[in-house]
Amino acid sequence: MKLFMKIMASVGIMGVVLATSGFAQTTLKDAFKNDFLIGAALNEAEFAGRNTNTVAIVKAQFNSISPENALKWESIHPRQFGFNFGPADAYVAFGQKNGMFIVGHTLVWHNQTPKWVFQSDQGSRTVERKRRPVDRDILLQRMSNHIFTVVGRYKGIIGGWDVVNEALNDDGALRQSEWEKIIGPDYIIKAYQFAHEADPKAELYYNDYSLENEAKRNGAIALVRKLQAAGIPIAGVGLQGHYKMDWPTNNQVDETITALSKLGVKVMITELDLDMLPPATKSQAAEVSMNFALRAELNPYTNGLPAAVQQQLNQRYADLFAMFVKHRDVVSRVTFWGVTDGDSWQNNWPIKGRTAYPLLFNRDGRPKPAFNAVLQLAAAVVP
Ligand code: G3I
Repeated sequence: MKLFMKIMASVGIMGVVLATSGFAQTTLKDAFKNDFLIGAALNEAEFAGRNTNTVAIVKAQFNSISPENALKWESIHPRQFGFNFGPADAYVAFGQKNGMFIVGHTLVWHNQTPKWVFQSDQGSRTVERKRRPVDRDILLQRMSNHIFTVVGRYKGIIGGWDVVNEALNDDGALRQSEWEKIIGPDYIIKAYQFAHEADPKAELYYNDYSLENEAKRNGAIALVRKLQAAGIPIAGVGLQGHYKMDWPTNNQVDETITALSKLGVKVMITELDLDMLPPATKSQAAEVSMNFALRAELNPYTNGLPAAVQQQLNQRYADLFAMFVKHRDVVSRVTFWGVTDGDSWQNNWPIKGRTAYPLLFNRDGRPKPAFNAVLQLAAAVVP
């Protein structure tokens, strides 16, 4: 509690303005080297080395990387008998070359999974037969083949896998995905069993958004307990961290990390970014299927962030990192979902064509005041 009080006093949770002038004298990975890994999700232009400016930031600031899309089923296994390992191999090679902790994202998800996975015999000539849903046994075979091929290829190289991603509804019940409807609830245990067999040394994670809401968090706790009861060595739970400026509150983050730590697993912030644009919906969910038409009032900062909004972003990031440092004993990694504001998926979700400012580096690849606010927080509170 003493450390927490020191943290809250130093960053002025009640809104004391953080001085963000001056150039940062250290890097994110060095500032938190005794607390947790600091990571970023990379797109192909970055890990393939085409975006040299952003690559320089990644090498200097981060010690962990996640693949924004390269290891998703639609990218690496687009056809039933055809794998596309190029981008994933380049991603892994980037991580190895730069001595990074390499995350695998993600093996079993309801999104970005090709239709063929859930359709019956792909060899049949009739369209009707092709579209008939696959049965449980064949879908389990396909899941097994995918996981053993992909996890096996990077065995001993990828340090941890988001084995199952976003399996829960907001109320904590299982999402009625094709996986759940065709195989049944045990698709989750099967996925972790296959992944563990494919690479017994890789850490296995469950990853989801909005676990800061109690009902969904309780669903995740039940899911982890079920995996543990089945003998699955689940190593951690990923809080995605697609946060708003006013949600979740510090207390909700605090309670969530505390509750998950009682499971005896690591807690990771796996996809951190802040959405400070006017909401198109009241939902807090980072539900990728949401999509709304672009309206001027929902996209107010096309010419840059006003100083007052910038300051709110600085304070919000400082407050969040104060919480992560408070829980440094269980928080093992904090990963940003992208490097620069221009990279962010938020420029096109839930509204295509927005100008978003969710990360610590601006569109020119320069540190934003929020970057300095995080480093100043670290200087003030990291023991
Ligand atoms: O690859 C195609 C390309 O061929 C095509 O020309 C282009 C234009 O339509 O689309 C490309 O696919 C896009 C894909 O990213 C790869 O760039 C999809 O349209 C686009 O929808 C997809 O968005 C990704 C999103 O997941 C999809 O669900 C985002 O980049 C990615 O940041 C986002 O990441 C997810 C995490 O995996 C899970 N948690 C939520 C998070 C945010 O949605």
